[in-house]
Amino acid sequence: MDQSDVSGDIASILLTEEQLGAKLDELAAQIDKDYAGKDLLLVGVLKGAVMVMADLSRRLHTKAEMDWMAVSSYGSGTKSSGVVRILKDLDTDLTGRNVLIVEDIIDSGLTLSWLVANLRSRGPASVEIAAALRKPDAAKVDVDVRYVGFDIPNEFVVGYGLDYAERYRNLPFVATLAPHVYS
Ligand code: XMP
Ligand code: MG
Repeated sequence: MDQSDVSGDIASILLTEEQLGAKLDELAAQIDKDYAGKDLLLVGVLKGAVMVMADLSRRLHTKAEMDWMAVSSYGSGTKSSGVVRILKDLDTDLTGRNVLIVEDIIDSGLTLSWLVANLRSRGPASVEIAAALRKPDAAKVDVDVRYVGFDIPNEFVVGYGLDYAERYRNLPFVATLAPHVYS
């Protein structure tokens, strides 16, 4: 196989494009119901949320604006510490807005709980969270995620926005990587 082809790096596919799409249909229908008669500001967290933002927002009938934030969590290695730095802030004033944070994955939940507190301090009407994926550790933190796509095992996954060393974000599915990728 061509060394530049990613398919040799995939160990197993956890969620197919079809499964992700079907789940987003459900989440979008729920969001449309919950926000009926309201305006919605979708806040995507770069870079991982790009895919779920594109796919979820296209399924909504609710009038929605989109804005983006980039944050970096200080931590040792792969674990986030909950100490967060804003790399790119929103362009939008949140006063009176109904904010829906759109995330790729919640692991420890520390980044997200910081983000929710930060956005709440800006005077919005509401702040809720939609996440494509959730890992088991998220249960340890008191962060209420209104819309969850899939609960997944505590394994490192890539694809559908998620990266390993900035690669694999463009895969249309969620997968685990073959051991040779890490060595
Ligand atoms: P928290 O604060 O919830 O951080 O621990 C969530 C962030 O951690 C990253 N993360 C992953 N990235 N595959 C990835 O590519 C994974 O399996 C994974 N688990 C956590 C991700 O950046 C997320 O926003
Ligand atoms: Mg990442």
